[in-house]
Amino acid sequence: MISLKTLAAAALAASLCAGAAYAQDPASIAATRHENFKKLGGSFKGILDELKKPAPDLAVIKTNAKALDTLAAQLPTWFPAGTGADVVPKSHALPVIWQKPDEFKKDAGDLASAAHAMDLAAMSGNMDTIRGALPALGGACKACHQTFKAKDEH
Ligand code: HEC
Repeated sequence: MISLKTLAAAALAASLCAGAAYAQDPASIAATRHENFKKLGGSFKGILDELKKPAPDLAVIKTNAKALDTLAAQLPTWFPAGTGADVVPKSHALPVIWQKPDEFKKDAGDLASAAHAMDLAAMSGNMDTIRGALPALGGACKACHQTFKAKDEH
């Protein structure tokens, strides 16, 4: 007789397999990446919006800077080979990402450093330090997009 425990284990194994297959599907990897970039963009905008206010809320800046720091550190893992615009038409990830991996890693590293500096600035609570951390951050987004992200809307 099959015990409930065995059934539960079998169900778990099946769901893990399904999960693994799902995770390897290029379209879903690209979709998850898109969600991650939306979060990344949202936390960057969250900081910018706050700084435009007459009395910026430091707590909001801190939360967004922490999220930005965490996401930026993860960015290189969002790009497994075979998930670019050549495979997933909806994606804006140019094939050059995988042709110039060192350059891509450098741009990702520049963002991670800039995001970490912003996180530290936010923790310091000094608005001038926070404002001072902005240009490197914006520059890091722009530099990578120029080389590695498709501009056309498709
Ligand atoms: C190391 C390279 C790199 C860096 C650094 C980078 N991005 Fe991106 N970004 C990309 C690529 C590549 C895509 C396209 C991903 C796709 O469509 O699959 C993208 C897509 C996006 C998108 C989705 C836009 C759309 O039209 O789908 C947003 C928003 C975004 N990035 C914001 C940012 C912000 C804000 C920063 C800086 C805080 C940043 N990115 C830094 C490479 C980068």
